[in-house]
Amino acid sequence: MILALETSCDDTCAAVVDFDGNIHSNVISSQGIHDRYGGVVPEIASRHHLELVGSVVADALARAQTTLAQMTLVAVTRGPGLVSALLVGVSTAKALAAAYRLPLAAIDHLHGHVAASFLAPEPFEPPFLSLVASGGHTLLARVRDRGPGFELLGQTLDDAAGEAFDKGARLLGLPYPGGPALERLARDGDPDAFLFPTAAKLKGLDFSFAGLKTALLYRVRGLDVAEVQRRRADLAASYQRAIVESLASRVERGLEQTRLHRLAIGGGVAANGPLRERMAGLGVELDVPPRELCTDNAAMIASAARFVPAAVYPHYLSLDVYASGERAAA
Ligand code: KG4
Ligand code: ZN
Repeated sequence: MILALETSCDDTCAAVVDFDGNIHSNVISSQGIHDRYGGVVPEIASRHHLELVGSVVADALARAQTTLAQMTLVAVTRGPGLVSALLVGVSTAKALAAAYRLPLAAIDHLHGHVAASFLAPEPFEPPFLSLVASGGHTLLARVRDRGPGFELLGQTLDDAAGEAFDKGARLLGLPYPGGPALERLARDGDPDAFLFPTAAKLKGLDFSFAGLKTALLYRVRGLDVAEVQRRRADLAASYQRAIVESLASRVERGLEQTRLHRLAIGGGVAANGPLRERMAGLGVELDVPPRELCTDNAAMIASAARFVPAAVYPHYLSLDVYASGERAAA
């Protein structure tokens, strides 16, 4: 049995998963307190992780009807993410593992998102193309096996897709996190009402959302207040359409380039209904993990841990976290 922790951003997560990928518990405590700031405040996130992590772990073990003594492996997200937030998870994992002299697997958060597809009851087998789109990252990867060495084909040059949702939502006066709120508002709008850019001129498989966000800003500024209010749903629907098309066009290119006919999508943005529909229409075999496995969670970290060599006690006691870009070295 694997006990996994994930604290890379603002969700305090713990899960118990077995080596066949069956989830015995998957506890996610969303902090909620960042809404009023319109984004995650790292120091507040880390303080809350510290307050919550003990009870979240206890809850995960209780719901799985097991104890720490029954675990054979501890896994934890090592990066990328907010350093002060990651440190809480890594320190806790070290302490828990050391207490029972268990091995510890340090997991890359993005490998975790990909590995959500490997969980039971219907594991999606490589090779496949993977789109991970969340608040912190947007990437396209060729996944050849279940290990951490997936091939990065493209990533965002500026904002992440979820960030584009969050920033657009903010411009439309919606609460944080913006993705779900914007999706809800867009249901009453016309996606063809406004034409927003999809970075179509950008060749290759990289993404860019900064121009889109600016386009919405100018649109909103160009309308008077009453008209913005009247056309909020149209703005939301058109803006959402541009994000979805921007993601879909890279996925189409990626499928063509790799000649793969299998696609997995993950990350918080994969919870988006119109994105799921668009991907389902591509005519390839599609894997979309359930919503709670698309957003940040610890079950995906446990899943990845099954395919990563673990460090034995006491070698992991000096393990450090990384904020970004150290995947290759990790
Ligand atoms: O993977 P995740 O939970 O955390 C990160 O690692 O970032 O992703 C959170 C992001 C947020 O930007 C949020 O607005 C977006 O995913 N998101 C959505 C939806 N649900 C969450 N975006 C669009 N539509 C949704 N339904
Ligand atoms: Zn994530």
